Amino acid sequence: MTIPTENSHSQNHATNKLLDGPKGTRFVQTVRGILNPLYYLDSNYQRYGDFFTSKFSNFPPQVIISNPLAIQEIFTADSKLFESGTGNQIALPLVGSNSLLLLDGDRHLQQRKLLMPPFHGERMKAYGQIICNTTEKVINNWTPGNSVIAQSTMQEISLEVILHAVFGLSEGERYQQIQQLITNMFSLFSNPLSATFLFIKSLQQDLGAWSPWGGFVRQRQRLDELLYQEIRDRKTQSEPLGEDILSLLISASDEAGQPMSDVELRDELMTILFAGHETTATALAWALYWIHYIPEVREKLLQELNSINVENCEPAEISKLPYLNAVCCETLRIYPILFFTFPRLLQAPMQLMGYNIPQGMILSTCIYLVHHRPDIYPEPKRFKPERFLERQFSPYEYLPFGGGNRRCIGAAFAMFEMKLVLAKVLSRYSLELAENRPVLPVRRGLTMAPAGGVRLVVKSRI
Ligand code: HEM
Repeated sequence: MTIPTENSHSQNHATNKLLDGPKGTRFVQTVRGILNPLYYLDSNYQRYGDFFTSKFSNFPPQVIISNPLAIQEIFTADSKLFESGTGNQIALPLVGSNSLLLLDGDRHLQQRKLLMPPFHGERMKAYGQIICNTTEKVINNWTPGNSVIAQSTMQEISLEVILHAVFGLSEGERYQQIQQLITNMFSLFSNPLSATFLFIKSLQQDLGAWSPWGGFVRQRQRLDELLYQEIRDRKTQSEPLGEDILSLLISASDEAGQPMSDVELRDELMTILFAGHETTATALAWALYWIHYIPEVREKLLQELNSINVENCEPAEISKLPYLNAVCCETLRIYPILFFTFPRLLQAPMQLMGYNIPQGMILSTCIYLVHHRPDIYPEPKRFKPERFLERQFSPYEYLPFGGGNRRCIGAAFAMFEMKLVLAKVLSRYSLELAENRPVLPVRRGLTMAPAGGVRLVVKSRI
């Protein structure tokens, strides 16, 4: 693993360096950042380097950081120095105030400890079969000559996988209703127009079932009723609890022996659905785009997949394939699904790489800019999976899942799902892009997704 000790832009001087950044007003910077995030980030990096200040509407002033040494300091610093919950408030109406996303300090640590075990080691094996079966079910009706939108199909798969893994359910009326309500509510987040009421508090007025906020609140009420029914039924069932995430969380208890309350369970279930569903689907849509955009990548991948029996092998065998792993890593490098880690709001002044950063400022680690540093990734704008076969990157150079005390708890789950879904799709169908042109990321809910969703034409069934 290598971390650059010095770089072209920032050097670790003992003297105080002055923070600098674009001069536009908050409004101008917000508009620029939203309309053309790649240009905003790339041009400011060129001009100011790997530390620059930025002002966005509704946010305290922030420093955008893409220096691996600084990121190492942030990820390894005492977590009490930062607060992230306040910066994630936009998710509150969906996930509730007990969500991991909104907590800080001891409560955050405590909930994290309860939530992590279902996403590790042995548990992952059980999810492998769910992922393979769901993918087969969803893609089974693809017919040659037709086209599919990768983003929506992958979303269908990832929602079904996560619902199945979370609730241990894949059918039945309650499950169908939960699936429908979640699809409706999350699509509000993905659509920039309907999502405005989430950003602007004064629009959060219940003016009846047909008003945007009124409709959202009613759907959430109905979903909560179903979730609480499921939690109650699960707690009182006579047969032993299953291996799904809800069952594991019901049986979990904190250091004081306290189990999670029903409200905590509900909020964390929504958190997992919210954080895990669209992110994984978007990553898969990007992977399908790159694989079909660069013929050599597809050929190499097919060769590797043909070396095992994808239809009948153990999911773990697929997840160990080196080129498939490199393709997934490169997909998450070139356009990270989240361009930034969660904001870290400084609770005390911090000395970072010679900069004196005042309390109240946000440290924003820019995953996209780190992943595009030419000193770490030569030819950074080129999709080149081989770079992940040639060398290893430190967690401060490659960070699609963030890091430190907020590192994504679903990272292993998401990587596993990406590999299995891609292996199943590619070994079942021959596909091609409907339009062979470069695709850029656009904002979609929390994620940076491929514009147009990636239309693929089904050429033949293999
Ligand atoms: C490709 C898919 C995914 C990507 C790129 C991704 C990325 C991220 C990133 C960048 C963070 C913020 C980390 C930080 O601030 O340092 C995060 C946090 C989180 N992710 Fe993921 N994620 C993905 C999938 C998932 C899945 C599948 C789940 C759950 C099943 C999940 C659950 C979470 C949770 C609960 C957090 C909050 C952690 C905390 O606040 O302590 N994510 N994710």
